[in-house]
Amino acid sequence: MAYPFQITSLEQYHRDYKRSAEDPEGFWAEVAENFLWRKKWDRVLNWNFTEPKVEWFGGAKLNITENAIDRHLATMRDKPAIIWEPNNPEERTRVVTYERLHKRVCQFAQVLKNNGVKKGDRVCIYMGMVPELAYAVLGCARIGAIHSVIFGGFSARSIADRLDDAQAEYIVTCDGAYRGAKDIPLKSLIDDALIGNKTVKRVIVYTRTRTPVSMIKGRDVWWEDEMEHAESQVEKNGVVSFPAEEMDAEDPLFILYTSGSTGKPKGVVHSTAGYMLWTTYTFVNVFQYKPGDIHFCTADIGWITGHSYIVYGPLCAGATSVMFEGIPTWPDAGRFWDIIDKHQVNILYTAPTAIRSLMGFGHEPLEGKHLASLKVLGTVGEPINEEAWHWYDENIGKKQCPVVDTWWQTETGGTLISNLAGVTPEKPSWASLPMPGIIPLLVNEDGSEVTEKDEDGVMKGNLCIAAPWPGILRTTYGDHERCRTNYFATYPGMYFTGDGALKDDQGNYRITGRVDDVLNVSGHRIGTAEVENAINMHSGVVESAVVGYPHDIKGQGIYAFVIYNHAHINDELTRQDIQQTVTRIIGPIAKPDKIQFVHGLPKTRSGKIMRRILRKIAEADFDHLGDISTLLDPGVVEEIKNGRI
Ligand code: PRX
Repeated sequence: MAYPFQITSLEQYHRDYKRSAEDPEGFWAEVAENFLWRKKWDRVLNWNFTEPKVEWFGGAKLNITENAIDRHLATMRDKPAIIWEPNNPEERTRVVTYERLHKRVCQFAQVLKNNGVKKGDRVCIYMGMVPELAYAVLGCARIGAIHSVIFGGFSARSIADRLDDAQAEYIVTCDGAYRGAKDIPLKSLIDDALIGNKTVKRVIVYTRTRTPVSMIKGRDVWWEDEMEHAESQVEKNGVVSFPAEEMDAEDPLFILYTSGSTGKPKGVVHSTAGYMLWTTYTFVNVFQYKPGDIHFCTADIGWITGHSYIVYGPLCAGATSVMFEGIPTWPDAGRFWDIIDKHQVNILYTAPTAIRSLMGFGHEPLEGKHLASLKVLGTVGEPINEEAWHWYDENIGKKQCPVVDTWWQTETGGTLISNLAGVTPEKPSWASLPMPGIIPLLVNEDGSEVTEKDEDGVMKGNLCIAAPWPGILRTTYGDHERCRTNYFATYPGMYFTGDGALKDDQGNYRITGRVDDVLNVSGHRIGTAEVENAINMHSGVVESAVVGYPHDIKGQGIYAFVIYNHAHINDELTRQDIQQTVTRIIGPIAKPDKIQFVHGLPKTRSGKIMRRILRKIAEADFDHLGDISTLLDPGVVEEIKNGRI
């Protein structure tokens, strides 16, 4: 498959960028010509950021799975679409060709149909990283159901909230999932989540770990039985087919829950056509994908990175995507390098937290590993520090591979700011230049555009985007007003990212991190309010305040200041109880790293917690606490400082 929209020189980047800004409709219409449409659009773009309303390719009809699978069958039937690497290296690798993927997706779409799923229904997917997860996602897209994938690290309670918010009627899960030495009982977590649930009609269970599970009559069915039955329905005389539902360009493709400043995660909704274009366009350009390349994105499909750069972007580009079930450090810290060696991986895309963690194991895990197949390295999810950037460049890329630092968010669908591998210049720890179609703006707190530069010629401000790109979120599920207030109301007329950034003289951007109450722990986004709510559910807790602090491996760690209502016998045990509570309410990913018991929190006279002070204390930056005279009780600051852990 050729990519006429691939940018192959710096001059072309500048040309395309300029054209996309001056004539976005013409530019994206040309890109859109490279996809398969049942009917072309009436209008390329219709938008305002006031409601907000964004429509790309309005009036067009398509099905994304025909773009991700069917159109490749004529020329790439036997090409691997997915190479699956199991958690346990002793187990057999599975290679799923485009032909096989087509069959399985058709079969699973039929399973969904047999179980009553219709266009627009919400299907929650809670599975480990097995190829069946990709079949489930694409099966939903084929039938026009809206998938909502939930990461396996979320608790039953978090699943229940998400099921409720999406009013999901169907669930696809596994008996269990392997992750390193652990075996996570997914179905059992689903069972807990379903206590009291009134909307879910059917649970489809894929067998992976053979963990004993309870199967409820009339509700729970086995994946294997359903697939076997569906096989004869979709395959006639050796020909496989399941007619793809005709979708409007703007029909929702999926919901993905993500954390914000409030206690309740939001269901970010992506559209069909715009998301398809954006993930494919950015995949091909950022990584400079060439036909035949093997692409390995180490993310989990439970996060946006897996949706966009394991499934939709690569498959729509007819690429080969490696899907890894396990973790980088099991059975040893050489696992990624073994996978690269074994599958001759050309593009590696991972998170700074993984790089920092692997750096800590030194050289030994790299010995004897052949990494010469690598052509491009990528990072995503959090700011990458220069030390990690150079380690990655020198030890993994052997200084032969461009490193792309891709900045984006669940809400943006795909990368917005990144260098293009080997085409635009790289600058360690800078995401660098915006993609065509992206108009970043740095603004001051009052919304005015930043114009002041420091002595190095660098500007600093809050990062906004001035106009829509095809992959922008369309709404937050069931609550459009929330979408407006969260992203479009802080700075009217602009999409506000929640990130702070720097801009240098050459127009490069460096993302400095969140400026709202959202933490980024090991590349996972967690709202401080969510963690506080969970801590406050512990029976002994009166009040708590959560902030982030710099953590060598995770990027940010979670620091909780907790007021406890009576003397407790054992601080350590109480800490563990609180962590257990957070694990139950949100999931293990939100467990605080540090818990400090305090008698009071720094509050203003109006009762607002001064998190700025707590952040400084957590960072041990006692010299920059700022003005504490406006506090209701300035005395608490001294106590908190002295008790810092
Ligand atoms: O703060 C930014 C950080 O991750 C946030 C988005 O998190 P999430 O929606 O979970 O998506 C992560 C994967 C796309 C952003 O607001 N972030 C993401 N990529 C980078 C980054 N920070 C710095 N540099 C990056 N390359």
